[in-house]
Amino acid sequence: MGVVRTIDWQDHHIVAIDQTKLPGEVVFLDIFTVEDLVDAIRRLAIRGAPALGVAGALGAAMAVRDEPRNRDRDLAALRTARPTAVNLVWGVDHALATLPRGEDAVLGSALELLESDAARNHAIGDRGADWLAERLDGPVAVQTHCNAGALACVEWGTALGVVRSLHERRLLRHVYVDETRPLLQGARLTTWELAGMGVDHTLVVDSAGATVLARGLADAVVVGADRITANGDVVNKIGTYPLALAAARAGVPFLVAAPESTIDPALSAGADVEIEVRDGREVLGDLPETRTLNLAFDVTPADLVTAIVTEDRLVRPALGERPA
Ligand code: MRU
Repeated sequence: MGVVRTIDWQDHHIVAIDQTKLPGEVVFLDIFTVEDLVDAIRRLAIRGAPALGVAGALGAAMAVRDEPRNRDRDLAALRTARPTAVNLVWGVDHALATLPRGEDAVLGSALELLESDAARNHAIGDRGADWLAERLDGPVAVQTHCNAGALACVEWGTALGVVRSLHERRLLRHVYVDETRPLLQGARLTTWELAGMGVDHTLVVDSAGATVLARGLADAVVVGADRITANGDVVNKIGTYPLALAAARAGVPFLVAAPESTIDPALSAGADVEIEVRDGREVLGDLPETRTLNLAFDVTPADLVTAIVTEDRLVRPALGERPA
């Protein structure tokens, strides 16, 4: 069997792994309508910034193929399915830009994005691994947060692309995985991917992240991003910012691995980004009703970001370099 893609286009529809079912079951969703795609995105069956970019592009192709009278409604629903990862709107607009050439061009553009994802992630992973290998001696231990692996993309991954690249070069000693409350993308998804790769790893509760770094257990923090603003602020899963603070205190490099499509030149700073607030029941589980503030993402200020690696370049925001 070839590589399994997190999201794919088969027989005129989207096929995607239902990430809410992992790691217990590997279930594939067949998505034929924009309405069902929006539902899958909202409930995080499809998630992770690069995967959302591809979903947005394929969804745009579905929207222009369907009833013209529903087009604007469907595109608006798709664009707003989740607000924080810029890749979703970027993917929709990237594919739609070809509409003057016809519906087939929109699908062609979306498929090109789908097909090029793996190469992009390999380039990100290799650049990140090169940078870490240059700075650190011998096989390294890495700490990561949330899931920025193949499941967040089409294949390979961004932060976990760096991890994969280090592993292939025999330069990886260990990975510490934050569990990532409340939806446990680290505990459910990242550990599943690392186990599949045969990478030695340890799961810790989110609040142990700073202590892992203070004890010198990890040599670098490597995370993905949902949006990077022009000044180099990084918006990523809630809990990333405290990890960056702890990394700075411990003198450990904080590396962000993301495609160019995650950089939003239109927004000057992280404070301008809409942070998704999700249903409090995700936090409460079986607990009795209490007021919650379920912020899904946070902003890591540029001065805490040692480097950002994309498929094209390396930017060092902490040294004042700006990605846009
Ligand atoms: O809410 P999620 O699971 O979509 O959040 C995902 C993240 O925060 C990832 O770290 C980010 O999208 C980068 S994925 C390569």
